[in-house]
Amino acid sequence: MSPRALDPVVIDRDLPFDPRTLPTRPPETGVLMADASGFDVAYVINPHMAGNIGTVDREKARAQWQALTDVYRRLGYEVHVIDAVEGLPDLVFTANQSFPGQLPDGRWVVLQSHMHAEVRRPEEDVVADWHRARGATVDKMSREQGFIPFEGMGDAHWFPGRRLIIGGHGFRTHRDIYPRIATVFQVPVVTLDLVDPRFYHLDTCLAPLDENTALFVPEAFRADAVHVLSALFERLIEVPLDEAVDLLACNGHCPDGKHFIVQQGAMKTAAKVSALGYEVVEVDTSEFLKSGGSVFCMKLMLP
Ligand code: ARG
Repeated sequence: MSPRALDPVVIDRDLPFDPRTLPTRPPETGVLMADASGFDVAYVINPHMAGNIGTVDREKARAQWQALTDVYRRLGYEVHVIDAVEGLPDLVFTANQSFPGQLPDGRWVVLQSHMHAEVRRPEEDVVADWHRARGATVDKMSREQGFIPFEGMGDAHWFPGRRLIIGGHGFRTHRDIYPRIATVFQVPVVTLDLVDPRFYHLDTCLAPLDENTALFVPEAFRADAVHVLSALFERLIEVPLDEAVDLLACNGHCPDGKHFIVQQGAMKTAAKVSALGYEVVEVDTSEFLKSGGSVFCMKLMLP
């Protein structure tokens, strides 16, 4: 017995449906990025940042960021840019402060994240204000049940092309936020428990390429996750641990089912991806790796 496609259930184990039979949703057409001129490693809130305070080459970071905006433009996406804000060195990771999605009636809503680390909370309003100025409805999500951390598209992914959300939790996002998110969007949410602090966001250890295929880092997940992941994706490709840790190779991004944008030098990962027929687009995000971020974190997909 399968639930109706739009039942807002949270699923932690066995998938009662094939995701490829769920209702479709339109592809995103834009990306939101934040100017990297304010980027820095000024505190340590993930293991990648340790030892890197004050080591960022600002000019190099700005150039790397600019090159990434060019890649998205070249692939046909409209790139929207939020200005840098003094004192918010992680604002550049726009995957984290919000989560846009479409309601069943076609309206777009943006959920405002509840950042785990206090130092990043001021970023939430900066991004929410930008969405509002663009005409979006921003849902701050009820805080009545107390503070439930949620870090946007860092932990929650829309399943490629379908009305389904994959929700990571464990470090930055609490599982208890997902019933609320399922209800807002009227979609099922499949949750995945993260267990390794080096992979503190779902986007560091799961990279869907299309509705059949995803890259993943086995070490990042609770043991039974492979079971859930193989019910979600027909083809699962392992990212070697060294490239996943040192180059955040699983933080690459496939926006269109064809191109995989990834940190340069992740040779084994790139070889696997191109052997499957995807076009690998290498970029250098070395300055951002010092902060525990790479391609996927540096943008938010927009309608
Ligand atoms: N320094 C940032 C943090 O720890 C990096 C965020 C990277 N974002 C991501 N979606 N993985 O919060």
